[in-house]
Amino acid sequence: MNEEQRLQGQQVKETNPTDKKSEKDYSKYFETVFLPPSLKEAKKRGKEEVNYHNDFKIDEQLRGMGTGKKFYIRTYGCQMNEHDTEVMAGIFMALGYEATDTVEDANVILLNTCAIRENAENKVFGELGHLKHLKQQRPDLLLGVCGCMSQEESVVNKILKTYTHVDMIFGTHNIHRLPQILNDAYMSKEMVVEVWSKEGDVVENLPKVRRGNIKAWVNIMYGCDKFCTYCIVPYTRGKERSRRPEDIIQEVRHLAAQGYQEITLLGQNVNAYGKDFEDITYGLGDLMDEIRKIDIPRIRFTTSHPRDFDDHLIEVLAKKGNLMDHIHLPVQSGSTDVLKIMARKYTREQFLELVRKIKAAIPDVALTTDIIVGYPNETEEQFEETISLYREVGFESAYTFIYSPREGTPAAKMKDNVPMEVKKERLQRLNAVVNEMSAEALKKYEGQIVPVLVEGESKNNPDILAGYTNKNKLVNFKGPKTAIGKIVNVKITDAKTWSLNGEMVETHQLAEVE
Ligand code: 5AD
Ligand code: SF4
Repeated sequence: MNEEQRLQGQQVKETNPTDKKSEKDYSKYFETVFLPPSLKEAKKRGKEEVNYHNDFKIDEQLRGMGTGKKFYIRTYGCQMNEHDTEVMAGIFMALGYEATDTVEDANVILLNTCAIRENAENKVFGELGHLKHLKQQRPDLLLGVCGCMSQEESVVNKILKTYTHVDMIFGTHNIHRLPQILNDAYMSKEMVVEVWSKEGDVVENLPKVRRGNIKAWVNIMYGCDKFCTYCIVPYTRGKERSRRPEDIIQEVRHLAAQGYQEITLLGQNVNAYGKDFEDITYGLGDLMDEIRKIDIPRIRFTTSHPRDFDDHLIEVLAKKGNLMDHIHLPVQSGSTDVLKIMARKYTREQFLELVRKIKAAIPDVALTTDIIVGYPNETEEQFEETISLYREVGFESAYTFIYSPREGTPAAKMKDNVPMEVKKERLQRLNAVVNEMSAEALKKYEGQIVPVLVEGESKNNPDILAGYTNKNKLVNFKGPKTAIGKIVNVKITDAKTWSLNGEMVETHQLAEVE
């Protein structure tokens, strides 16, 4: 298979390779029959233009394929994956399948995987192990692996070799091909593998079945070109491709008309939105400025890269209204030296300057972040700089991680002199600060009346409702079930480390905003 065929997309029927005796024979077998996805290919960024498609349709012959059958999708990882699951659910329904939330009932099971850290991958391998039993009991069950792990050659090879009960593997660029992939899997006794290493296209009219009718994800761009040295995303999600503004605006209008209360604009690096347009100069600030005019109560976006957070976006966010005053701004480290090795392309000082500008424009903004500790060769002083930056910014919450080497990324090749014990200890110290500051931020709410978008019953107690404030703080409170799906005012009675407790107040007591 040549390069062109690989890019066009290959349909490879894999015969069970486990009958090959030695590793050597085995790898030879792949060279001749199967070309796994290539991280090296995925890294290349060319000048190819992005093609927009509006012609997705389900083949007449495949339409009834799912009649009388059920599908189950387990989603791991980020919101992008959650949203991809909504698209795949849409395709399943269009094929006539019904959804189920138990694996035992399902005729097709998909694991929509995440590759960001090793433990995310281990969970998937563990689950594949468990599902083997089910597959042995019901050989007609189709089991598929999709999402970011499918884009990694080492994972595909491992599945082909060790998890031979898997029926299909397909990548993040192949979701729109799900009907054909399913059909091939039914027709073939062999594992169906369809993973494209590169993709330059955006498919607009894919069906979606959204989870819930209160909040919705709206993809605004795909991929990432930042290549932070630790991160696998630019390899698994491909190059940056922005959706056209008119398509996004139309989708948001439609969601508003359906009564959705909140939308979150999604991208791996949303601030790079529009940078790939050749015919127009149009960025995230411009898009938000148009979307805020649509009659939808809450608009959020995630995830931002500090480097691309420009003044125009800050100016637009300062208009507030339905633009929520919470910004998730991953910093990763507080040390300029570590940031440099991470290839984040900003210094500690530049980050602090950005925060200063944001706070000047939106004084009561809530900032949250992502942090990696234990980067290769991170010193105690460098780690302390992360702690001091966290305090200086006054972040209200954070997702914190121990660095996890990802095969194929530059950082994975770096020598690392930080023992795991030290990394774990740093994580604990950081988390203690994160908890302390989260509790402090929440304490300020006590006695205030805040608007809460009610999402449903609390997980632990059906008599209690749960929802989120403008700044995305979880609130548990007593109130009537009729409040679900609405924005109501809640008086905060007490603050915990990660959530608030309160009571719904009568409408005549309505306060302004937080
Ligand atoms: N190891 C640990 N954390 C990582 N992240 C991304 N790649 C890695 C890695 N290799 C974290 C970053 C990013 C978040 C989504 O996951 O903090 O912002
Ligand atoms: Fe990964 Fe985000 Fe960096 Fe892109 S910007 S490489 S998604 S951490």
